[in-house]
Amino acid sequence: MANLLITGGAGYIGSHTCLALLQMGHSLVVIDDFSNGSVDAIRAVARLAGLQQRSRSASGQARHHQWHWQQGGQHLTLLEGDIRLAADLQLAFEDQAIDAVLHFAGLKAVAESVAKPLDYWNVNVAGSRQVLEVMADNHCRTFVFSSSATVYGMAERVPIAETSPVQPINPYGQTKAAVEQMLRDLAASSGPAEPGWRIACLRYFNPVGAHESGAIGEDPDGVPSNLLPLICQVASGQRPALQVYGSDWATPDGTGVRDYIHVMDLAEGHGAAVETLLAEPPQLLTLNLGSGRGHSVLQMVQAFEHTNGTSVPYELCSRRAGDSAVSVADPSVARSRLGWQTSRDLATICRDAWRWHQQNPSGYAQ
Ligand code: NAD
Ligand code: WQD
Repeated sequence: MANLLITGGAGYIGSHTCLALLQMGHSLVVIDDFSNGSVDAIRAVARLAGLQQRSRSASGQARHHQWHWQQGGQHLTLLEGDIRLAADLQLAFEDQAIDAVLHFAGLKAVAESVAKPLDYWNVNVAGSRQVLEVMADNHCRTFVFSSSATVYGMAERVPIAETSPVQPINPYGQTKAAVEQMLRDLAASSGPAEPGWRIACLRYFNPVGAHESGAIGEDPDGVPSNLLPLICQVASGQRPALQVYGSDWATPDGTGVRDYIHVMDLAEGHGAAVETLLAEPPQLLTLNLGSGRGHSVLQMVQAFEHTNGTSVPYELCSRRAGDSAVSVADPSVARSRLGWQTSRDLATICRDAWRWHQQNPSGYAQ
């Protein structure tokens, strides 16, 4: 079993991946600055994984709060810290050797990235560089990176293969493509005298849903921009209607088609990726994580209504800037290299997202 460092583990995808990794038997150190994550997410993860809280401590600086859970030989530590600060990251390497880092910490809102590009280059690119530098200082060279299908921009062919051109169309996508380039340079850098890097760039399609318990899920800050959190808010009466962005796309029903992947399938994909890297010689893997199936906005609305017995009023509106008609993964390389594929369907996605929303209508801020 490995000791893994999870940056951004208190966020949406990170928290679900922490649970999957704990259930696989690994021990974890999580670092998060809580800018968009919650201690409560990790508390719930520890509870679901059957770990007991051991202690909570604070150093002289408030930034360095720490929480510890344990069960038998397995442990989970949460550190409050900023990935852009070497001293904060170094804390994670202090008490144990870290076998691999899964790097989720980052900023992810496309529209915000257009308004504040420097923040995105700072956290996503400079932050990733800092994580890699501290890893190298500590002789840890196994790295799983949260990339995004957004690096493909307006892909010309679907399903989208990893060989499709990388041509992002917004600053957020540019920062993901830049980190991928940094990782390719790093993978190519090691000489015969140095141990090589083991790297996976995982390009997620549309992560959605929540753990089946309803105890952890997506907790968007302010008004959500993604489809499923908005559908939940409409279904619960927090918003009058869903605005469907475009009904004249070149798709069967005219609405946008996406490859929605259940967040627990995605979490398990990370488990498969890190175990594959640790078991194989140094390499760089670039993999799509998606289901390979596309669903339109109206199919999602209908699936949600049918599965949950709710009503989701909607209005057909004009297209949203920057959207494309169809984005669907070709997930065959991930299947063959990791022995991983998605297993949860659209009904499961809708059921789990709704359970989380009903149990936590205000997210973690209860
Ligand atoms: P999230 O915002 O829920 O999680 C990111 C976490 O990183 C948060 O807990 C936040 O507090 C933390 N963080 C941010 N800046 C930090 C810093 N400087 N130091 C320490 N912690 C910091 O986002 P998510 O949806 O879980 O996404 C995780 C990763 O996956 C991101 O890198 C994102 O770009 C990528 N991704 C997300 C999606 C998606 O649709 N959610 C799709 C593709 C890729
Ligand atoms: C899905 C579909 C919309 C909201 C974004 C980022 C991408 C990635 C995932 C991080 C589209 C339609 C949506 C609404 C709608 N994130 N829609 N009404 O745009 O595919 O991807 O999140 O890497 O980078 O761009 O996801 O959930 O916003 O939209 O009709 O109110 O739902 O037009 O067809 P998207 P989404």
